[in-house]
Amino acid sequence: MEKVVLAFSGGLDTSVCVKLLEDKYQKEVITACVDVGQPEEEISRPEKLARDMGVKHYTIDAKEEFAREFIFPAVKANALYEGYPLSTALARPLIAMKIVQLAKKEGASAISHGCTGKGNDQFRFESTIRSGSSCEVIAPIRDLNLTRTEEMEYAKEHGIPLPSDKLYSIDENLWGRSIEGDILEDPMIETPEEAFNWTRSTEDAPEDAQIMEIAFEKGVPMALDGQNLGPVEIIEACNRVAGLHGIGRVDIMEDRIIGLKSRENYETPGALFIITAHKALEQLTLTRAELKFSEIVSQTYSELIYNGLWHEPLREDLDKLLDHMQRRVSGVVKLKLHKGSLRILGRKSPYSLYNEKAVSFEDKDMDQREMAGMVKNYALQAACYQEICKKR
Ligand code: ARG
Repeated sequence: MEKVVLAFSGGLDTSVCVKLLEDKYQKEVITACVDVGQPEEEISRPEKLARDMGVKHYTIDAKEEFAREFIFPAVKANALYEGYPLSTALARPLIAMKIVQLAKKEGASAISHGCTGKGNDQFRFESTIRSGSSCEVIAPIRDLNLTRTEEMEYAKEHGIPLPSDKLYSIDENLWGRSIEGDILEDPMIETPEEAFNWTRSTEDAPEDAQIMEIAFEKGVPMALDGQNLGPVEIIEACNRVAGLHGIGRVDIMEDRIIGLKSRENYETPGALFIITAHKALEQLTLTRAELKFSEIVSQTYSELIYNGLWHEPLREDLDKLLDHMQRRVSGVVKLKLHKGSLRILGRKSPYSLYNEKAVSFEDKDMDQREMAGMVKNYALQAACYQEICKKR
């Protein structure tokens, strides 16, 4: 029997895929769960499920790589899609790359994923797979046009054990948690408190504000309150503290790649905290021209990631540009976290472009009179235009 490697989360879609790949596609299934920082039970659950279903399973630890090679570049780019920090989209290429490697090692002729034909992840997975292997790609849920209800029936019929507490379709990694489906599909229904896991509600957040300092080195977060932390640790710590204060809940109408609008809920406390601080430091250290251009870079970069085009050369080009631009984005940002709000209190950097002396109204060294000529003809074209209007 030919082998297929399935990207396996142990959720409804991929659990159903295991059985379908065996029965309908006649394959020997190997499952793999790539650890990109989802909670421990999301690693152990697929392990156990695979064991119960009698398939060979791998857990591939990619947390550190995810933080260094994907999240940190996204921080440098302030990667947001329609206003929220990209998380699911950022992890997909890495997960797919790991699956491609495993398929090679196992001599598999096919790679499979549990994406439906309605979402974004089919693009993200398959673009990576096709950039790294010539394996056949099998997408059983999409192929058979299955609904979630049909999947649940199929699971019941075939004795596939599914966690009963899983109402929503959830995707989690180090950088964020996304929640979709069930009653959330009605955009007018308020997201119930139980859907959240990483963030407290504003009501339950501590009464007392917390002040934190985060240090960056060349655009990358390095230390919290003076304590140096590794890439994974600092992201986890930011998630904990910002989540505690009710920061990072997002409820939006999102535009998917195929044009469908969908209601999406996210919890991205750490990402919001880090990107907010990062932008504050950029305001201090980058020139006006750089800041303006970095908006375009950010937009383009984010779109590439969202659209599943991690392997597009432009993404690599932009990473090079960002690395160069971020050489001076080092320093410390002080923020206040309180009941869902995040406020910048201060910022400092050895590369600060702020000239406190020159901007001061008390300064006399910068001779104000020298400005008169520059100001006089500053709006020359506007003045000419108004003159013409008056004559007509
Ligand atoms: N819509 C988001 C994206 O495309 C998240 C989807 C995550 N999947 C999920 N089942 N919650 O990035």
